[in-house]
Amino acid sequence: MKKVVVVFDSSYGNTEKLGREIAAGIEETGLAECKVINIADVEAEDLSGYDGALFGGPIHAFRATRGIKGAVKNAAKKGLQAKLVASFDTYQAPGHVGKAAKQIEDELKKKVSGAKVFSPGMSALVLGREGPLKDDELPKAREFGKKFAAEL
Ligand SMILES: Cc1cc2nc3c(=O)[nH]c(=O)nc-3n(C[C@H](O)[C@H](O)[C@H](O)COP(=O)(O)O)c2cc1C
Repeated sequence: MKKVVVVFDSSYGNTEKLGREIAAGIEETGLAECKVINIADVEAEDLSGYDGALFGGPIHAFRATRGIKGAVKNAAKKGLQAKLVASFDTYQAPGHVGKAAKQIEDELKKKVSGAKVFSPGMSALVLGREGPLKDDELPKAREFGKKFAAEL
């Protein structure tokens, strides 16, 4: 059984929910087990034992948060080289779809040498600053998780 870690930043819980659904999709395949962790816990986690990792956060003021970018930087030092990686985000302004996920992906490419990037990442719309996630985003997240697992 392979192992995947999902790392999230989330102010109101929507990106966490998205990450947990992606993890559920991964586990549903039976190909991997998944651990979901907050950015605050990346430092303490030994990432070298994972076969894949996903990083996600909300978009704040046109950008991926400093928190999730810091988590990527941290993770890069801790043995994610040559693993399968991907990004995800949540956004509220229709024009901002995928923006933060792309920035997280670029950070992954820059910081984790030799990583295999599963691209594009997943981007989910929230209906207000504090959510909720739009109805059809969770089924999409589950599918995204399944596709990620198939590439492990
Ligand atoms: C300080 C701040 C800035 C934000 N800036 C943007 C933005 O530039 N574009 C956008 O689409 N949503 C923006 N949002 C809305 C976030 O996308 C939304 O709060 C987030 O996706 C919810 O996810 P969370 O519950 O995981 O924090 C902003 C929210 C906050 C709190």
